Amino acid sequence: MTYIEAMSEIKPRVRISSIAAMAENNVIGKDGGMPWHLPEDLKHFKRTTIGKPILMGRKSYESLGKPLPGRANIVISRSYKDLPSNAPSEIHQGMEAVAHKVEPQNEDGPFLYASIEDGIEAAREMVEEQGLDDIFITGGGEIYKQTLPVIDRLYITLIHREYEGDTYFPEFDWEDWSIISEEKHDGSSDDGPAFTFFTLDRKKNS
Ligand SMILES: NC(=O)c1ccc[n+]([C@@H]2O[C@H](COP(=O)([O-])OP(=O)(O)OC[C@H]3O[C@@H](n4cnc5c(N)ncnc54)[C@H](OP(=O)(O)O)[C@@H]3O)[C@@H](O)[C@H]2O)c1
Repeated sequence: MTYIEAMSEIKPRVRISSIAAMAENNVIGKDGGMPWHLPEDLKHFKRTTIGKPILMGRKSYESLGKPLPGRANIVISRSYKDLPSNAPSEIHQGMEAVAHKVEPQNEDGPFLYASIEDGIEAAREMVEEQGLDDIFITGGGEIYKQTLPVIDRLYITLIHREYEGDTYFPEFDWEDWSIISEEKHDGSSDDGPAFTFFTLDRKKNS
């Protein structure tokens, strides 16, 4: 049992969710960005995570350039003592351009931690203080892989196409998960891909 798994057994339950957009071949990233532009998915991401702590790897944070507002941005890095403040990237601007009706509730950070365990612990304290009940793992590949064993819920945007890329969501068995909701979207006339928003809960004993 890893330290992360042991910790999740002894601490009171706060739901840990992962949210990711992935292609049929599990690609989630390419050259530090994403190989698609899907405004609907950015809206979905914002709607789902606003007001909740989001935890990400240093490379994903750098691909945003700045913290996403209205959420505590927890960034994991073994090496960085301080995070560079860059101009918002295209992904960041895309995520913030999409409309939402929920008022932001958290300080954005970024809050830097040297381990995933410390980052999850900090997120857990934040949600307990605020009476919330879930925290979000928002990537990228390295962080999704290490945290998958302790994830209770997966928000997966499955893009019905294969893409070339260099970063992948870890393999998982769909049989281990119950489909809580499934919302299909057709492709757009300007060659936008068809995709489905899935919410999956881990089945007990899997
Ligand atoms: N499609 C999606 O939904 C989605 C979501 C998020 C990201 N992405 C894409 O994913 C790609 C980035 O993913 P990635 O796998 O390359 O990087 P990443 O997971 O974002 O970040 C990796 C970095 O996190 C730190 N790290 C990882 N494990 C750690 C641990 N156990 N303890 C302490 N620090 C740890 C290290 O930072 P240091 O090197 O600083 O020590 C490591 O280099 C980008 O292309 C991005 O666009 C896609």
